[in-house]
Amino acid sequence: MNPLKHVAIIMDGNGRWGLKNKSSRNAGHKQGLVTVEKIIQTTIKQNIKYLTLYAFSTENWKRPKKEINYLFNLLENFLKKKLNLLHKQNIKLKVIGVKNFSIKLNNLLKSAEKKLSKNTTLQINLALNYGSKTELIDALKKLKKSGEKINEKNLNNYLQTKNIPDPDLLIRTGNTHRLSNFLLWQIAYSEIFFEKKLWPDFKENDYIKIIKKFRLIKRNFGNINE
Ligand code: IPE
Ligand code: IPE
Ligand code: MG
Repeated sequence: MNPLKHVAIIMDGNGRWGLKNKSSRNAGHKQGLVTVEKIIQTTIKQNIKYLTLYAFSTENWKRPKKEINYLFNLLENFLKKKLNLLHKQNIKLKVIGVKNFSIKLNNLLKSAEKKLSKNTTLQINLALNYGSKTELIDALKKLKKSGEKINEKNLNNYLQTKNIPDPDLLIRTGNTHRLSNFLLWQIAYSEIFFEKKLWPDFKENDYIKIIKKFRLIKRNFGNINE
């Protein structure tokens, strides 16, 4: 059985769910948050140590202002409301991506990270204004400036995901088979599951089914596995 330390999720399909069920994309984002809370609890129950959630990409700024504002309000309210609960559950938070939001949101994110920084049950990496290409270019610039040798280990040290083991399992909901600029370097050997269900319809059971399948896969890492 494969060990499972790190699950990364592209939480896709909120907009379509909202349009279909409530005639509004934003209603899908709200419902998507319910799934986020459930999946966090299941991840803890499964004793998985890292959960990376793709919440907003560097490309998502192309969306209408109304939707972007709604998403960030949702995040802000969630953090304010749930921070103590996250702390009680011994959850650590790390934001990956470029924190160039409003001063208010930047401060909120920083203080949440700080408050939760010593927690050890589960580390949630929240990918916000995250894009893999930007991350790699920034890391390469820093590596070059440092004068250190260009190798895998040194590059890893300048990535946003520094000190986080690579994902063992990547899940994308929403029936779309692409990576959308997510962790391109880190998922070199991840097992990838594309899930048909839209994120708000993704349930604990769907998650557990994928985890069970993952556990049984022969992971070769280039070797032969007989
Ligand atoms: C993913 O759901 C969540 C974010 C990008 C914030 P979408 O909003 O992309 O939902 P669809 O893919 O349009 O249905
Ligand atoms: C990927 O979903 C980003 C997040 C889930 C945050 P998108 O819906 O933005 O991806 P594309 O644009 O369909 O590739
Ligand atoms: Mg989408």
